[in-house]
Amino acid sequence: MTAQTMEELVSLCKRRGFLFQSNDIYGGIKGLYDYGPMGVEFKNNLKQAWWKSMVYERDDTEGLDASILSSPVVLKHSGHEDTFTDPLVDCRACKSRWRADQLFENNKCPNCKSEDLTEPRPFNLMFKTAIGPVDDGSSFAYLRPETCQQIFTNFKNILDSTSRTVPFGIAQMGKAFRNEITPRNFIFRVREFEQMELEFFVKPGTDDEWHEYWINKRIEWWVNQGIKKENLKKIEVEKNELAHYSKRTVDINYVFPHGEEELEGVANRTDFDLGSHTKNQNDFKITSEVMKNSSSTTKLAVQDLEEKKWYIPFVIEPSAGVDRGVLALLNEAYREENVDKDNKRILLSLKPHLSPIKAAVIPLKKNNEELVNLSKEIKSNLQTLGLGRVVLENSGNIGKNYRRHDEIGTPICLTVDFETLEDKSVTVRDRDTMKQERVSIENLSEYYKKYFN
Ligand code: GAP
Repeated sequence: MTAQTMEELVSLCKRRGFLFQSNDIYGGIKGLYDYGPMGVEFKNNLKQAWWKSMVYERDDTEGLDASILSSPVVLKHSGHEDTFTDPLVDCRACKSRWRADQLFENNKCPNCKSEDLTEPRPFNLMFKTAIGPVDDGSSFAYLRPETCQQIFTNFKNILDSTSRTVPFGIAQMGKAFRNEITPRNFIFRVREFEQMELEFFVKPGTDDEWHEYWINKRIEWWVNQGIKKENLKKIEVEKNELAHYSKRTVDINYVFPHGEEELEGVANRTDFDLGSHTKNQNDFKITSEVMKNSSSTTKLAVQDLEEKKWYIPFVIEPSAGVDRGVLALLNEAYREENVDKDNKRILLSLKPHLSPIKAAVIPLKKNNEELVNLSKEIKSNLQTLGLGRVVLENSGNIGKNYRRHDEIGTPICLTVDFETLEDKSVTVRDRDTMKQERVSIENLSEYYKKYFN
């Protein structure tokens, strides 16, 4: 079972500290959200899982964490200054603004139903900010609209500082910014979000095969994070809807509570980006339509040792949205169950590696010195194992604690009771089955480690 409505998820997220509307004490700002105590742990765990699979578990990738503020020259050559637009229409009657391609009823304002709309005009989605103390428009930067451009501009730095040869990839996670005309559906479409992007550089001619490889690999990864395969769809992007850099893109769609939409895109970006940012483009046979006359001072190419010539690699790009991943996984893990004929519970059946809290240690009686001290000791021992956050719950209300930890997806709760002082064992309660067993404190570390493996 998943959530039935987006409202169920929004309510859980606020109640249990996953997500808050940003600046909400001043009325909030549309399209911006803050991750609360549970949200930040969950999001970090998701990013860590991606990094592990993209960097640590592979022998053909490197990582990067580049600046967010981006030079206009980079975004001119990437094509974003000219083409990163959505069609904007204004309603003359109620003064609201809409994306022309998202009007549900053609030529009608979704707010007031007036048909008095302006002609669509291109609206660039990039945010600008001044660089330096004088804001006279002469020196500005963009907040990056995708994380990958700095991967391309660092291509040579990374080649020169590592021993990589094609095929190899560069991975990066971090913030991206888009001034969306109509942010909506909770954290699905927002103005500040995070991406997890891999740019995988391959020899032209091998690109189609690598593209298929990454499409399948990425679906497999989402399934390993806990999304049912039947809720993921492979969608071939129509030729006339491809981004300006793409030869072929396959979207991995997920059935969100508001409908089926893109979770991740896997694009074949050809030699578009490295070609656009490269010095002396005419020295290369560039296949795609690139920005001519790059002012770059660097050749972003590699040498084919057999054919003894330089070429610009093609790029396969799996690009996933962190926030959309958070939303999809919360939805997927959401359950409502009858505990008995009078009581229901909500739980998040998250994979343990993603759970914000890995274990809660609960002394049966609040402020009882012996029980609390022993609980603290158990908590810090488990914490040192480095598998994620462990908490001590000193409120004395076991039922309430179980309910709270079910809702935030804590896989196990450990209760320290008076018997513990005698038999040196604790009660371990499993989130999904609610089954309880006694485990000796001596064996707890091993038990805990096995649980997370
Ligand atoms: N570098 C390629 C790129 O940025 P994209 O399809 O525009 O491609 C990649 O974005 C992913 O980033 C999307 O699949 C989505 O998960 C996420 N994303 C894009 N715009 C977003 C927004 N406004 N809010 C939340 N996530 C977004």
